[in-house]
Amino acid sequence: MEKLEQLINNQIKDWSLDQKFYKDKEIFNLEIEKIYMNSWLLAGHESQIPNPGDYFLFNLLTESVIIIRGKDGLIRAFMNVCRHRGSHVCLESKGNVKRLTCPYHAWTYNLEGDLVAAKNLSVDIDKKTLGLHNCSIELIQGLILINFSDRPKSVEMMKQELSEPMQMFGMKDLKIAAHRNYSIDANWKLTVENYNECYHCAPAHPEYAKSHSLKYDESSEEYELAQKPMKETLDKCGMKDYDIAADYDVQIESQEQYAYHRYALFGGYLTGSEDGKALAPLIGDISDYNPGASDFSLGPVSFLLAYSDHVVAYVFTPVSHHTSQCDVYWMVDKDAKEGGDYDIERLIWLWDVTTKADERIIVNNQKGVNSRKYSSGPFSEKESTEKRFISWYLDQLRETL
Ligand code: FES
Ligand SMILES: [Fe+2]
Repeated sequence: MEKLEQLINNQIKDWSLDQKFYKDKEIFNLEIEKIYMNSWLLAGHESQIPNPGDYFLFNLLTESVIIIRGKDGLIRAFMNVCRHRGSHVCLESKGNVKRLTCPYHAWTYNLEGDLVAAKNLSVDIDKKTLGLHNCSIELIQGLILINFSDRPKSVEMMKQELSEPMQMFGMKDLKIAAHRNYSIDANWKLTVENYNECYHCAPAHPEYAKSHSLKYDESSEEYELAQKPMKETLDKCGMKDYDIAADYDVQIESQEQYAYHRYALFGGYLTGSEDGKALAPLIGDISDYNPGASDFSLGPVSFLLAYSDHVVAYVFTPVSHHTSQCDVYWMVDKDAKEGGDYDIERLIWLWDVTTKADERIIVNNQKGVNSRKYSSGPFSEKESTEKRFISWYLDQLRETL
């Protein structure tokens, strides 16, 4: 891959990527192998499958994973590939089963993935060796993460460091109140880059900028000033101040990258709502509404945004080298009742309107990047997370050479 090496070496530090990184199918295939098949991906929440036999599928390009709760209550992940001749075993995106029976020739697996029935199979064949292939899975405070690698990077440090702030928001005791899937006609990196920077927040997201102080430059005085009421009331709200920087050089190599940072909402806003009023009952250890929003990064393409009364989860995945999708989940306390304790339309308003705006921005970004006149441009000082993402990305590609 001499050409790729040259492309990587020609990249100016802290400038946007060359057009080929956004258009070339061969580079895309490399990225999938190196990044998507090796990173921990947020697949869902354990509350989606409360009973034995409950399952849902997580699909990514050629891969499909069955995430299922066993009779013993444990959650496991299996590749959705029959060990007979390879058919998908589960066809419905979610459901409840006593056993997993392949629709082709009816090979049947138990909830632990063992092959338990295969008619007319020679007695010489050992069924024990023909269980469904496992997919790596980790549960962090109720969140389900999967990894397609057989030797995945460790999530131990991420688990240790993020567990406390996650507990503060009671992540284990949440449920998914709403899920939306947004298709975006753009390369997946443009979607992740967009999520990683708030340089565009002030001009592009009036709904967000009205209430969220991250629209300011984080080193500015106005930003600092805005944080005061949020920080000063943390204690009274039963919350702690954490700041876990996404310092990829410090985080031990071969461990998944992660981060946590809280910033203030403007006066009058208790949460990420249109009118500033509460959207749902308080979550976790939180005893009063604190005017802030907490950003979590879980690996390179999965993110959480936590308010006092709900959590929004984002996962970006590619559909092809020029199309992507963004799955957004709104989570509230598991005991909260729809209609009485929260209203779906009010709950999803901010991040639905903001994600739809992002979808437009990102598609327009791709259109310009496709032009023969596109050339790499310099990142601003307010795009530091994006700068880190790009240099991490280039390092990943370099490792494939
Ligand atoms: S492919 Fe599944 S039973 Fe034949
Ligand atoms: Fe945005």
